[in-house]
Amino acid sequence: MNTLYYGDNLKILRKYITDESVDLIYLDPPFNSKRAYAVFFKDKQGGESKAQIQAFEDTWSWNEDVDEEFGVMMIHPDYPTELKDMLKAFKGFMGKNELMAYLTMMAARLVEMRRVLKNTGSIYLHCDPTASHYLKIMMDQIFGVNNFRNEIIWHYKTGGLSKNWFGKKHDILLFYVKDSSKSFFNPLKEKAYIPTLKGRTFAIEKLQAKTDNEGCKTCGQKGGFYHMAAMPDVWNIKTLFRNDKERLGYPTQKPLELLERIIQASSNEGDIIMDPFCGCGTAIAAAEKLGRQWIGIDITHLAVALMKKRLSDNFHLIPYENYDVFGEPESVAAASELAEHSKSQFEFWAVSLVVGQPFKSKGGGDSGIDGLLYFKDYEGDYHRIIIEVKGGGYTPTMVKGLKATMDRENEPMGILIALKPPTKGMLSYAASLGTWQMPGSLRKYPVLQFLTIEDYFKGIRPDLPDTSMTLKKANREIRESEKPTKLDL
Ligand SMILES: C[S@@+](CC[C@H](N)C(=O)[O-])C[C@H]1O[C@@H](n2cnc3c(N)ncnc32)[C@H](O)[C@@H]1O
Repeated sequence: MNTLYYGDNLKILRKYITDESVDLIYLDPPFNSKRAYAVFFKDKQGGESKAQIQAFEDTWSWNEDVDEEFGVMMIHPDYPTELKDMLKAFKGFMGKNELMAYLTMMAARLVEMRRVLKNTGSIYLHCDPTASHYLKIMMDQIFGVNNFRNEIIWHYKTGGLSKNWFGKKHDILLFYVKDSSKSFFNPLKEKAYIPTLKGRTFAIEKLQAKTDNEGCKTCGQKGGFYHMAAMPDVWNIKTLFRNDKERLGYPTQKPLELLERIIQASSNEGDIIMDPFCGCGTAIAAAEKLGRQWIGIDITHLAVALMKKRLSDNFHLIPYENYDVFGEPESVAAASELAEHSKSQFEFWAVSLVVGQPFKSKGGGDSGIDGLLYFKDYEGDYHRIIIEVKGGGYTPTMVKGLKATMDRENEPMGILIALKPPTKGMLSYAASLGTWQMPGSLRKYPVLQFLTIEDYFKGIRPDLPDTSMTLKKANREIRESEKPTKLDL
């Protein structure tokens, strides 16, 4: 069954993914850019919200965990001697610095990825020039020089040029196979446009006349577009701009076209595709579209929540029914454990239960808002529902605090999502606030509602208007298998 895993991919790979079970791995790890990546959500009028949520941090440091991981790799018999020698050499000249921490993290994971890859399988490591030179040496050691296939340059056009160097406009994809004697490759053709006839050679004129009349043999498109020429290792694919229809607001989201190329070239229908750093799920969406099976892993509940939404918008897939989700709390005890382990991950997860937008105030201080839901009333005005999440205990003063936040923000409704049930006093306070009538209708909603985690697991949901405008809707994607064939037409 297709599965989304929440957690550290090293642990997930080691514990749950069996040897030689995956056909293709695409990984787009953080690049050691020393940046914190923020998600851009939209505000209630559809513009970009000022409040940003940190999706993940790409800053590494040599800490106890890295030290331990390095030690394990040095002594464990499963790690090849060449890899140990390489890591020792790297550490010899770099010392225990940020880059070495990053490379140690990557080495441990790449070894696991090689283990889970089938002998016929392929891997594409997406990186940029920050560390690609070290990563290529590492891939040579782990996968073998003979199994190197391509260094693909993904060239894109973005704004922003420096006066001090040439524009940095490409990423790198290191393509290796597990065993070159067993691997396969489906050659792709590049889509080209044949411009006007003038000055063209006879052969091209003939070809254009043919494609104009009959359409391209590969994709059927008429009007001068056609697929030609084996695809080279430099790919010109548009990057996703802020207002791109495909863009969901997740930082570092990759274009679907890039992933479709990789999947088409190095897998076949029904094959298993894995993305162990899957962010908002571009690889799994491409896999689903092309009729492949998939496994996605990410370390944040924010990414898992966005992927669930994307799969629902793209393909109408329902979690636990059409695919598995692993690592999300499935009981009150597990939810308390998450709250104790990480307040922010608990908040992301809790806000995702009502498909809300996580929120952090600009200065990072506690604004009394952990999430928001948006809706439009029947008179055309926009409103927000304020979500507050409490992982530990909470007091009547805190409940009154939520009402004060609603008043301050001039918003009509609030939800308190909590692990502990409210006391009788809190319930009667909420009841005393009464209901809010939706302008343009007779429908009334409670001003302040509680949703306990226990209630949630029992299937109880707050009484809310249609808040589906809260998160950007991903495009509906048509699976290859759903596209009409010539016979249907
Ligand atoms: C560059 S983004 C991937 C973007 C993705 N390709 C897309 O199109 O949306 C890297 C992702 O790796 C995740 N990540 C970082 N460390 C991880 C780890 N140890 N295990 C699993 N996921 C991790 C981050 O949360 C982030 O979502």
